[in-house]
Amino acid sequence: MTRKFPHVSSPITIGRTTFRNRIFSAPMGGTDITNDGCIGPKSTAFYELRAKGGAAAVTVSELMVHPQTDGSHAYHLDESILNSLAAATYTADAIRRHGAIPSLELSHSGQFAGTYMTDKSRQHGLCQWGPSEGMRPDGVPVKALTQELIDDIVKAYGHAAGLAKRAGFEMVMIHGGHGWLINQFLSPLFNHRSDRYGGSLENRVRFAIEVLQSVRTAVGPFFPIEFRMSGAEFTEGGYDLEEGIQIAQAIEAYADIIHVSAGTYQKTFGITHPSMFEAHGRNVYLAAEIKKHVSKPVATIGGLTDPAMMEGIIASGKADIVYMARQLLADPETPQKIMEGRDADIVHCLRCFTCMAERAATATRRCTVNPLIGRELDGTEIQPAPVKKKVLVAGAGPGGLYAAYTAARRGHHVILCEKESEVGGILKSEQAIPFKREMYELGKTYERLARQAGVEIRLNTEVTPAYAAKETPQALIIATGSR
Ligand SMILES: Cc1cc2nc3c(=O)[nH]c(=O)nc-3n(C[C@H](O)[C@H](O)[C@H](O)COP(=O)(O)O)c2cc1C
Repeated sequence: MTRKFPHVSSPITIGRTTFRNRIFSAPMGGTDITNDGCIGPKSTAFYELRAKGGAAAVTVSELMVHPQTDGSHAYHLDESILNSLAAATYTADAIRRHGAIPSLELSHSGQFAGTYMTDKSRQHGLCQWGPSEGMRPDGVPVKALTQELIDDIVKAYGHAAGLAKRAGFEMVMIHGGHGWLINQFLSPLFNHRSDRYGGSLENRVRFAIEVLQSVRTAVGPFFPIEFRMSGAEFTEGGYDLEEGIQIAQAIEAYADIIHVSAGTYQKTFGITHPSMFEAHGRNVYLAAEIKKHVSKPVATIGGLTDPAMMEGIIASGKADIVYMARQLLADPETPQKIMEGRDADIVHCLRCFTCMAERAATATRRCTVNPLIGRELDGTEIQPAPVKKKVLVAGAGPGGLYAAYTAARRGHHVILCEKESEVGGILKSEQAIPFKREMYELGKTYERLARQAGVEIRLNTEVTPAYAAKETPQALIIATGSR
């Protein structure tokens, strides 16, 4: 079979692990953490869906390696916590079941511990530890980590990695970017130490290397270790790409994949998670530049949603692997659709940040364009309806289109009426605004999917009471928008 996107669809072997394509699922966490810090069942189902959608590796988001000094992203993997190993094992199983490589991200928030917790009452109850003493922008004092604590945290990374392997994970991602602890050590902005961990780049990178060595000792020689870093911090006083390259060169002997993200969670959120005002793939150049200076495989991420762009990145050698986070919320089947050349069927992420906002507000996973996200445990398969009905849908905006699409997939005979000459409803008004183009295109994609599923679309047709009475549907869905 000739593939439409052959490069991004091709397998890659790292060490003894073969990944079925170059499309990996990035960590997305912060929800469904049980009270004792385990991965909750909804999260297991969430990660399973990523694997089912064709991603070659699925990264389970942040596991906190050292709870004594960190309280932000509160998954634990600790023998003393009943169920923590079981929860991790079930999650790894669920990912592997669909042919993807399960990977676990290991992290420590350092001085930003406690800024984002499930237990808000503990928010400032913890002592914040960073490379250097100081004051956080929110007025929380930060204590400098002692050598003893550094040694303890380094050991904890190894311990957590060993347990991850024991749970069935086949890769680990060490989070060295986005402003968290390892990044704080790498950064001249946070790291003012005068001992062997501060000052020169060689010293600032020491903590990262010790962590990677500890992890390697725990997992053995053939287990892939990925190092996630920010290619540049984009913050005054932080490191730039030139130093980013040197950091990658310094750590490459200790990692199997260099994963190049960008910026920090705290200061450059819209670059780390490129917003709709940023170009797609705006951070790819960081990975491309780093790739010129290292020999290990390099991964890139940031606002990637377009298969042709991803194919170009791999084909031109800018990176070896592409990662997506939000696009796999919008359409978890994106990798499968790319592999099969069904790119026209991909529902694109709007980069609207509903996922982030809902995580912060309600600790749930939600997506504007995909109603199944956060509800994976309820089942994402469309069940055939026991009784087939004639369904009339009034209004072909995004709600009407999606309802019609779902009803048709359930086997109903669906007629979708739109009083205007084009589908899309309110989304049509976004057509002329370049950064909102994807909102307009969402209507077109839903239309295509609805038609494929067998929906009969009647344009220039208003559903009046008389029209509905004449059609005699068994169900009427009124999707005429909000006022
Ligand atoms: C809802 C959500 C949760 C995230 N959680 C994590 C996380 O726990 N750890 C992490 O390293 N990155 C996290 N990220 C960042 C992503 O891994 C990724 O770097 C970022 O979203 C940019 O990729 P994208 O443009 O494909 O979304 C999260 C992103 C989102 C949208």
